[in-house]
Amino acid sequence: YPASLEDALSLNRSSFPDDFIFGTASAAYQFEGAAFDYGRKASVWDNFTHKYPEKINDRSNGDVAVDEYHRYVEDVQIMKHMNLDAYRFSMSWSRIVPTGHVGINEEGVNREGLQYYTDLIDELIAKNIEPYVTLFHWDTPQALQEEYGGFLSHRIVDDYRDYANICFKYFGRKVKNWITLNEPYIYSREGYAVGDFAPGRCSDWQDSSCLGGDSGTEPYIVTHNLLLAHAAAVDVYKRNYQTSPDRKIGITLLSTWFEPYSDAPADINAAQRAFDFMLGWFMEPLTTGRYPESMRTLVGKRLPEFTADEAALLTKSYDFIGLNYYTANYVADRPRDEPRPESKIQPSYLTDSNVNFLTQRNGVPIGAPTASDWLYVYPKGFKNVLLYLKEKYEDPLIYITENGRGNDVNDETKTPEEARMDIFRIDYYYRHLYYLLSAMSEGVNVKGYFAWSLLDNFEWKNGYTVRFGLNYVDRNDDLKRYDKLSAKWFKKFLERPLELQ
Ligand code: BG6
Repeated sequence: YPASLEDALSLNRSSFPDDFIFGTASAAYQFEGAAFDYGRKASVWDNFTHKYPEKINDRSNGDVAVDEYHRYVEDVQIMKHMNLDAYRFSMSWSRIVPTGHVGINEEGVNREGLQYYTDLIDELIAKNIEPYVTLFHWDTPQALQEEYGGFLSHRIVDDYRDYANICFKYFGRKVKNWITLNEPYIYSREGYAVGDFAPGRCSDWQDSSCLGGDSGTEPYIVTHNLLLAHAAAVDVYKRNYQTSPDRKIGITLLSTWFEPYSDAPADINAAQRAFDFMLGWFMEPLTTGRYPESMRTLVGKRLPEFTADEAALLTKSYDFIGLNYYTANYVADRPRDEPRPESKIQPSYLTDSNVNFLTQRNGVPIGAPTASDWLYVYPKGFKNVLLYLKEKYEDPLIYITENGRGNDVNDETKTPEEARMDIFRIDYYYRHLYYLLSAMSEGVNVKGYFAWSLLDNFEWKNGYTVRFGLNYVDRNDDLKRYDKLSAKWFKKFLERPLELQ
């Protein structure tokens, strides 16, 4: 376990296999801006931030974000400067297919949208940076939300498949790595049970800002349709576009590490249920075509089922699993008769698993707190999650598609110079990379690592108040980019030794 900054500086890419790739990750709504320009139409996130600005801590939105749409050449140059091998970014569905429907003669496709991504991909390839493309990072076209309720309707499966098909068709020659969905767990949970992410639905009596919904059924329906949409896109890709084995498609899933609160069997079982309701909700259907047994028992008839055909399409519908890891929680058993303040209207996804999530034990936090209320630094959990994924779910090929942290305190209290001195972020990265290596040495098959994120950006509910970037974005001076210490460290980490021949 590297204990000091000196140890951190001695860790570098040559500790990893030669073909291991390093990159940074981003998402369209958090980076692009140009939200209503060049033919793009609204997504659920545009609608949410504009109609309910009070849902975002600083009442901000992604209208301009970090303006990557206009500054991608500069941003790719920053990646090059940092010695990065790859860039994971997402395509905006409502930029490529603004009304959500492709149409028989592709009349629903926005050519300017295609052009933007063509230019970005060409720029990356010209600089020898491999594009990894996420098709969906939570930005459902608002038109589909209004037409049939977005992911609440099974109709979304066809529209998503058609959109994915357009992306494969126009970019598939150059893009060899595809990710169907980013963290469908967060989309379902935050968007349909907690209600603090678009589209903001929930049935929580305590939160007057809930925009209607049913937290006991909707998250399950939304996840079901997300999984079916994923499987449909993978099917199209495998049939028509996967022309060589180096072309791959996968899905990005989030997992927290769940540490049992005590050695009591009840708490150990509770931690297992917490995994089932987060990672297992996806991995179990992806490996067996069914939801985890604990979910089937506890959610009962509210949990949809896959038909035999759907199960067959879902099973093994990935070449790799993208894992996003940030943090850990303690988990304790929650007896069924304990009061459930999260929701008066029973049942709810938030209470179905019968667990309590805790961030401390006997007054001691599980890890160092950060400016994000959900993120405690727990690097060992990274290795634990990787071993868990390998052992429980058939030893998949894994890419770490996100890992990172925001600040120690609310960043807006710091000057740009202070914010750029982010030793705590270097500390986070080297400890996590150390545990990643350790997991790999125990046989976990990981081929790449993406840091979240290249730049400070629009962090959803936190708006611009929490900065996850390796590079600083000055929001008071034309969004100028400056490297932080962590960017300098990462650049050094990635330097290849000079080959003398
Ligand atoms: C991940 C998301 O869950 O966490 C990213 O995939 C996000 O899009 C990151 O930016 C940080 O979370 P947050 O909520 O602080 O923005």
